[in-house]
Amino acid sequence: SIDTAELRAEIKQLLKQKDAVLVAHYYTDDAIQELAEETGGIIADSLEMARFGANHPAKTLIVAGVKFMGETAKILSPEKTVLMPTLEATCSLDIGCPAEEFSAFCDAHPDRTVVVYANTSAAVKARADWVVTSAIALDVVQYLSDRGEKVLWAPDQHLGGYVQQQTGADMVLWDGACIVHEEFKAKGILDLKAVYPDAAILVHPESPDAVVEIADVVGSTSQLLKASQQMDNDTFIVATDRGIFYKMKQASPGKRFVEAPTAGSGATCRSCAHCPWMALNSLELLRNALRDGSGAIEVDEATRIGALKPLQRMLDFSK
Ligand code: 13P
Ligand code: SF4
Repeated sequence: SIDTAELRAEIKQLLKQKDAVLVAHYYTDDAIQELAEETGGIIADSLEMARFGANHPAKTLIVAGVKFMGETAKILSPEKTVLMPTLEATCSLDIGCPAEEFSAFCDAHPDRTVVVYANTSAAVKARADWVVTSAIALDVVQYLSDRGEKVLWAPDQHLGGYVQQQTGADMVLWDGACIVHEEFKAKGILDLKAVYPDAAILVHPESPDAVVEIADVVGSTSQLLKASQQMDNDTFIVATDRGIFYKMKQASPGKRFVEAPTAGSGATCRSCAHCPWMALNSLELLRNALRDGSGAIEVDEATRIGALKPLQRMLDFSK
């Protein structure tokens, strides 16, 4: 096997040589997050990844995450080379919302403002009026609802249902789900809370309603990380991908972080609290991408122009 220290050194050198910066999601392996920190890159939620990539002067962005994150980077920065360790890293929300079917759904609701989650293909974004991430979904839909607009929401039904309940907006929902978050179980979390009565429950809004209902904080990965730093509790039960523990523990070494239970916890479960696609990102593939220019993201220009508008709206709204 390839020596990790050697790989890390090689990647650091390649980043300099290729004028590249590493943009990593919180769900990637600790080793990748560490490298992002050490090399002036970023570890972030999907909104901050988009903003950081668009504003960074490097010629090449290497995006460690899943495909929609690489596509978003390319849509915002067509002049940059955007590489990913693997193009196989997708997302169940993206898979569950094919562009043609989605377009037909939009055609059936012509009176509605189309709001899509960032976890979608470029072609789906090109059909949208707005793109949102979990960090600003509530604010954007509240704004639209206050203006009297009716919303078509896709693809995550759990986040959509949460936004609808919080804002009172008139929404029709696509029925997609995240295979990682939909496995969290309220009962298991409450059992754990009985063991750690002082624990705060942190929940990503892609989780089912029953889990969101018992949360102390609901938010994007960055928002959950911030809550774990700011709250005084000694223990946190965390219902999101366990990759987030790297930063949570680093930021609060004295606190205890416990993974929220899923139906399959303990048994063999492919997606229990860890995204199988995020897990495909490895140091070796990252090195290969930088060295060989493999894993380059391309988005055809017509689709890119179409997707840029709702994405730019999101960035301008959240400034
Ligand atoms: P965040 O925007 O909160 O990072 O979420 C992205 C994601 O894929 C969550 O599963
Ligand atoms: Fe998609 Fe869920 Fe993986 Fe996030 S954790 S990338 S929403 S499958």
